[in-house]
Amino acid sequence: MLLRAQNTKTKVVMDTPQLSSEDQYKLDDLYQRLVEKSHTFLGYPTNANLHNEELARFLNLTINNVGDPYIKSNYGVNTLDFECEVLEFFADLLKIGKEDYWGYATNGGTEGNMYGLYLAREKYSNGILYFSKETHYSIHKIANLLNMETRIIQTVPSGEMDYEDLQNKLISERPALFNLNAGTTMKGAICDIPKLERILKERGIKDVYIHCDAALFGIMLPYMDGAPQINFTAPIDSISISGHKFLGAPMPCGIVLCKKASVDVVRRHIEYIGSHDCTISGSRDGFSVLVLWMSIKKYGHSGIKKMVEHCLEMTQYAICKLTENGHTAWANPYSNTVVIDKPSDALIKKWQLATEGSIAHLVLMPHVQKPIIDQFVKELGLTELSKAV
Ligand SMILES: Cc1ncc(COP(=O)(O)O)c(C=O)c1O
Repeated sequence: MLLRAQNTKTKVVMDTPQLSSEDQYKLDDLYQRLVEKSHTFLGYPTNANLHNEELARFLNLTINNVGDPYIKSNYGVNTLDFECEVLEFFADLLKIGKEDYWGYATNGGTEGNMYGLYLAREKYSNGILYFSKETHYSIHKIANLLNMETRIIQTVPSGEMDYEDLQNKLISERPALFNLNAGTTMKGAICDIPKLERILKERGIKDVYIHCDAALFGIMLPYMDGAPQINFTAPIDSISISGHKFLGAPMPCGIVLCKKASVDVVRRHIEYIGSHDCTISGSRDGFSVLVLWMSIKKYGHSGIKKMVEHCLEMTQYAICKLTENGHTAWANPYSNTVVIDKPSDALIKKWQLATEGSIAHLVLMPHVQKPIIDQFVKELGLTELSKAV
């Protein structure tokens, strides 16, 4: 039976819901804890210098960037035009012409990686995905989800792919799909694309798709003199960069860019949204787009370059301080990730360090200043001393 609309004059007044004082207290307590934790944040590649006050008013809007950022969808409460500006900024940085790229704002590095490898699989369904042992854990999961055949390549001590092992494992008769790193999660190692190109040429492999996981370094390398060209002047088909890492954001976010033509394979018109479905997620976060847009506008190229220089300076400072005090500490070239021996559990917890086997790392992000490094080195020395006693 169909319900008929009732002709009633009663007006429903919706009160603004309020938190109980107990819940308000709980929330205040959480805020304090998170602020305190942010003061000892050395182990993950997240920029804790955030200034997003101007965006507070957007939190009460139901922003959703569903669909293709370049098509006006039926869902009008969106930031698609700002998303396109953010993508244009990254496209410029990664040296790909306006007519040649497509991309979208993701919910982080993992989604961007999934997108790149999805396009790779759609282009070469009989391809083999090659990636190194020290690749981010998301790639194993993505390969599983996409049902891709894989070969895992050994690494050398710097964390880079062992190209000899790659040569042994390459199958010349099948398309070669790659996830390359710029840089690796634990050691910040950067792939050598010219070397890979030489190997592929020698083996006569022409059906190739290269996705680059540039979660942290994707935005940093373009600002470093002499750094490897991790951009579309190399034979890269897609690049994923996290937004919350170097630029920083209060929520995970990122971008993925790819060659325009490869997207047409997965594009479908969807009447429900009045746009094309060519992203991984349906509903997409349009608020984080504003956070990225604002960082880009506020810092500009010169501000970002200064932040990159600061990170590299702090990296050298941390290595000097640590080695002066008798600790092992090193970093790859063009990297702000300092590899150290795994410290005590108490220090790992306090400084929120990522560990893997016998190593840990510090990631010298824009919020890290010398006094924080000094404090960490002092505490590391004290725990070593107490172990020796
Ligand atoms: C190299 C690399 N790729 C991908 C990711 C995943 O990024 P996200 O956590 O934004 O999904 C990370 C996260 O640390 C990473 O280090």
